[in-house]
Amino acid sequence: MLPFDNLEGYRDAEAYDALNDLDETMEGKFFLDLGNLSGGPVLDVACGTGRLTIPLAQQGHDTTGIDITDEMLEAAKRKAAELNVSINWVHADARQFELGRTYRFIFTTGNSFQHFLDRESVDGLLRSIHRHLDENGVFAFETRNPILSRLAVDDDSERDSGSWEDKEGFQCSSTYLRKYDHRKQLEFYKFTNRRWKAGTDVTVTEENFALRYFYPQELESLLYYNGFKLEEMYGNFDKSVFQADSPLMVCVCRKR
Ligand SMILES: C[S@@+](CC[C@H](N)C(=O)[O-])C[C@H]1O[C@@H](n2cnc3c(N)ncnc32)[C@H](O)[C@@H]1O
Repeated sequence: MLPFDNLEGYRDAEAYDALNDLDETMEGKFFLDLGNLSGGPVLDVACGTGRLTIPLAQQGHDTTGIDITDEMLEAAKRKAAELNVSINWVHADARQFELGRTYRFIFTTGNSFQHFLDRESVDGLLRSIHRHLDENGVFAFETRNPILSRLAVDDDSERDSGSWEDKEGFQCSSTYLRKYDHRKQLEFYKFTNRRWKAGTDVTVTEENFALRYFYPQELESLLYYNGFKLEEMYGNFDKSVFQADSPLMVCVCRKR
């Protein structure tokens, strides 16, 4: 569907971790509280490097993490081993997985929900999750609020998306350009990544990336027709009321 590999940015798991700290007061607290309330077993779908999988397992829950990108999963395994945390890591496509068991708490975070770009992919994801959810289980995820005044602006200026030092001591930085396709509800990013060390040339690589946006009623329908009822939709991880300028749609669902 896309003329580029949308997972390319996840081949460098170290850079992902350098740029994505866990906000323990908001995102971390939200998923840990919900996980503890629902109880295990816990399934983290598109778990990446285990940013949330590991803290959930550290709460004592029987925890599984699935992801499609080997590099992210390998980093997750290394981190869990260093911390002596036992987790069932599975390499799988979230659109069609079968683990042969059910879970009381299933979640997907880091805006992973926006990686399912078309209806077939979202249906596949939701059906797979539905099959694995206990009758009384909870499924939670967040996706960015499609604020049109922000999405509609075709931005010609390069924006900063962070800098870090890699394990070989190179300085790395990344900038991006973005535009929005209103028909497909896809936001396209073009990243330019630079890597250098004192006395060496700057090397430049480019990377493309697309994210899907969902509108509130569209999201509710997708959930409904895949067997879920949307119990809560918050505007952020602090459980604030969802409104026009909320950054996120934080959804808590059960089987209907
Ligand atoms: C933004 S990262 C989020 C990772 C992690 N949940 C976190 O919060 O740090 C998105 C993750 O989704 C994974 N992913 C994308 N498409 C997937 C698919 N079809 N099946 C499984 N994982 C997928 C990527 O490999 C990547 O690890």
